Amino acid sequence: MLRTVVLVSGGGTNLQAIIDRIGDGTLKDVEIACVLSNNPGAYALTRAKNAGIPALCLSPKDYETRERFNEALLRKLQELSPDLIVLAGFLVAIPEAVIRAFPMKIINIHPSLIPSFCGKGYYGLKVHEKALERGVKVTGATVHFVDEGMDSGPIILQKAVEIPDGITPQELQQKVMKEAEWLILPRAISLIAQGRVVLSGKTTRIAP
Ligand code: GRF
Repeated sequence: MLRTVVLVSGGGTNLQAIIDRIGDGTLKDVEIACVLSNNPGAYALTRAKNAGIPALCLSPKDYETRERFNEALLRKLQELSPDLIVLAGFLVAIPEAVIRAFPMKIINIHPSLIPSFCGKGYYGLKVHEKALERGVKVTGATVHFVDEGMDSGPIILQKAVEIPDGITPQELQQKVMKEAEWLILPRAISLIAQGRVVLSGKTTRIAP
């Protein structure tokens, strides 16, 4: 059983996709041990509770300094002892100490085809605004391992999404979630649970 902890900040539709795939049996041998949010108002926490999954909030606002928050986050994650940490719309920069403590055990979903529209400042709606500004005809989503850089870790899965003329950033965000994110995030977790994601340096391959 792959013991996962899912980190969230907002609506939690990606979390819901994971819960649903575990529920319908597509995602086997995976359990969500805990959902952790930095934002007490995150609807993702309600989704976790509705599914009977332990949910907790660790807000930077409750700590005197960012260092104290980072230490608390690391302690909590070590206590939970996950095999895999899933960043599903987690808007907090992952402290280096956490990345060092869980090497290649943290994955993130990013709403573009990395290396396009990623890195510093590319989060949320911004990613889709920039894609539309540039006029690309295809975008998508990427699941990747988290390393010390920003959206720079080994790519696990990607899925492309076509951009129709005249679409708004909000509509594109929904389209990318529906056609790519909600599919490839549970699929990547499943591949990891099956031991099929093979790392070689900065890249991965999917074992048959
Ligand atoms: C998604 O677009 C994800 O790619 C990004 O944040 C958003 C989270 O949405 N990292 P949700 O909270 O899963 O609904």
